[in-house]
Amino acid sequence: TTYDIIILNGIVVTDTEVAELDVAIKDEKIVKILKRGALGDVKATKTIDAEGGYVMPGGVDAHVHLDEPPLFGKGSTADNYESGSRSAICGGTTTMVTFAPQRKSEDTLLDTLRDTHAKAKDTCYADYSFHLLVGNPSANALSEFKTLREEGVSSLKIYMTYEALQLHDGQILDVLLEARRQNITTMVHAENGQVIDWMTAQLEKRNMFEPKYHGSSHPAMAETEATYRAISLSEFIDTPILIVHVSTPAATAHIKQAQDRGLPIYAETCPQYLFLTKNDLDKPGFEGAKCVCSPPPRESEADCDAIWDGLANGTFTILSSDHCPFRYNDNTTGKKTCITDEYPVGRFKYIPNGCPGIETRLSLALGEERLSLTKFVEVTSANPAKLYGLWPRKGGIIEGESDADINIWYPPGKMQQYQLKNEMLHHDVDYTPFEGRTVKQWPRWTLLRGKLVWDKENGGLIGEKGYGQFVKRGVSSLKGPRVKGEWQIPL
Ligand code: URP
Ligand code: ZN
Ligand code: ZN
Ligand code: ZN
Repeated sequence: TTYDIIILNGIVVTDTEVAELDVAIKDEKIVKILKRGALGDVKATKTIDAEGGYVMPGGVDAHVHLDEPPLFGKGSTADNYESGSRSAICGGTTTMVTFAPQRKSEDTLLDTLRDTHAKAKDTCYADYSFHLLVGNPSANALSEFKTLREEGVSSLKIYMTYEALQLHDGQILDVLLEARRQNITTMVHAENGQVIDWMTAQLEKRNMFEPKYHGSSHPAMAETEATYRAISLSEFIDTPILIVHVSTPAATAHIKQAQDRGLPIYAETCPQYLFLTKNDLDKPGFEGAKCVCSPPPRESEADCDAIWDGLANGTFTILSSDHCPFRYNDNTTGKKTCITDEYPVGRFKYIPNGCPGIETRLSLALGEERLSLTKFVEVTSANPAKLYGLWPRKGGIIEGESDADINIWYPPGKMQQYQLKNEMLHHDVDYTPFEGRTVKQWPRWTLLRGKLVWDKENGGLIGEKGYGQFVKRGVSSLKGPRVKGEWQIPL
């Protein structure tokens, strides 16, 4: 056979091993993996010499907001499926799972799914899939979970905060029960919305409107309480949940305890909580708005350290970007929508919540060298694929099974380090919260289904719009309910 591409002299890193292996690719798949040199004199259309660099599965980013209407404040997301997926590829993320947002005023999820397909079709550079964001778990919406599964959607996201989306506990139980029946994983945004609304009113009463008060309005307690409540509701129904974007040591401790008790509780954190603190919200003028996200960056380095520890010790199942992009200098759709003549410093409560980060997630995390190589691959590729039903097609380097989605990194120490500048990025956002950070690693080459889509030194982005495909997902391959069969009312 003549292979399409062979990758020689790399160090293959998966979630379970680090080894000197050569990889052969044909027809979009990884078809052969052999000890370094053992591929011998095979024929290949293209040969890539990794020169000792890491060869890792392409990134899977399972928390991405693209082309969403105003839900988290006044603005609507800056990136659409084209620019968001372009940015993904340029940072080594080959698969993204975005949200299909159902509004409270809508009674159906299937319309939302169809509309979101229309937004993504033929415009993506990366492979993609959807989580249904359930804003209204009406009887009709719940009855559609079964069809969602048949359509390859095996996860939902629900909110315990945000006026536009917040569910009360009875509605959460409705969702969890039907999710259990249909083998769906429920993602929970765990912050107590009433606490946040109350704190917001308290701050406004005191004329505290600047961006930095966004942090004060989202106390750690609101996240800790909601996290414990979400775990309790999940345990009651005996169905898996993933707590998204965890930011506090106390919430992390609740999650760890639940996991130690054997509950199927999964957790996600994001680069914001590894790299940013409260200080980033307290900048001159309106600058702090760039780092307004929910939950907010927390108190100090010690909080960031606790989150790093949670990644290293397995409390966090996945590291996602929560790419939720808003432009800064845009008074109609961006962060500055809340600045008016009456409120020249803005009103933090109207600043759209979210930060861009789909392109910087992998590089920033790998560059820190705080996680082992296998752990890095586990939380950025393998586990998101396993939890969301993409494994082993995505997230792994498995002969005969995995798509040829691969990042080839620079050999350790070989890349010229540089300071990150937003102009280097490919999203449609006018800033990055990580401006000026030292970039120590970046994918040198990226393959998506056997096609070279990124070549850092020769043209950068060479993938094409529309090459990215919708990926139907199966069920989670991580631990599910403890008791099988229909849920029984505890009597
Ligand atoms: O601030 C954030 N995280 N905005 C995005 C919406 C969400 O809750 O994930
Ligand atoms: Zn609210
Ligand atoms: Zn959220
Ligand atoms: Zn989000």
